[in-house]
Amino acid sequence: MSGDRRPIGVFDSGIGGLTVVRALMERLPLESIVYFGDTARVPYGVKSVATIEHFTAQIVDFLLRQEVKMLIVACNTMAAVAAKVVVARAGGIPVIDVIEAGARAAVAIAAGGRIGVIGTPTTINSNAYARRIHALDASARVYSQACPLFVPLVEEGWLDHEVTRLTAQEYLRPVLAEDVGSLVLGCTHYPLLKPLLRDVAGEKLKLIDSAVTTAELAAASLQQAGLAVTGGEGPENATYRYIVTDVPLRFQTIGERFLGRSLGRIERVDW
Ligand code: DGL
Repeated sequence: MSGDRRPIGVFDSGIGGLTVVRALMERLPLESIVYFGDTARVPYGVKSVATIEHFTAQIVDFLLRQEVKMLIVACNTMAAVAAKVVVARAGGIPVIDVIEAGARAAVAIAAGGRIGVIGTPTTINSNAYARRIHALDASARVYSQACPLFVPLVEEGWLDHEVTRLTAQEYLRPVLAEDVGSLVLGCTHYPLLKPLLRDVAGEKLKLIDSAVTTAELAAASLQQAGLAVTGGEGPENATYRYIVTDVPLRFQTIGERFLGRSLGRIERVDW
């Protein structure tokens, strides 16, 4: 196997970013990944910008010490308010974030159209999705809605629960009233709610999963920068490390639900 075998660094406020790792494993099976989840300090989605910037800087510095060749901001909240911090510290290695990927996918699907965006309060208040969508397509109309209860409901495993269904109906009502044709799932946890959201919103609404589009963007960027693993050997050479700041109760179960496979060994760092 040849090419650049250094791992890709993927990070999130907790374990939700494993939805991005899952998409990366499928799209780029030859690539190794180091995942960092700040499980001791999650959730970020209700914290201030200054705090999120500070935490983000710590995580980026840590991953750079693991000699990653690319950084992927899997957390929408960090991408919304601390993307500049990541780029400033990355030392020139490529940086991909879920908001850029989600915005590109939204515009590709719904150019000039009406686009809904859902996310944590910090992500929605930052207006980051609307700004990035408008930078790509000034004529798009963006309708946003914060859904603060979705993260705890997903972590509880209530993916198909009546309480989650009622919550989704309540949150989506104003966005659906705007007759949007697509809905960006602007939070790591929301891809797990896809079947329920599809039920609530109807089959016609296109759900945009930023995990899948992030993996596409990462693949293109690795190729472009000449950093992709190439050669004839199989995916068995790819290694996966999972590093967290705490191992909370039910971590394994929830993590494996996000990842869609067994997690294996989990490393914990003490800050
Ligand atoms: N990872 C966060 C996001 O994608 C959700 C969890 C949190 O609030 O930290 O916005």
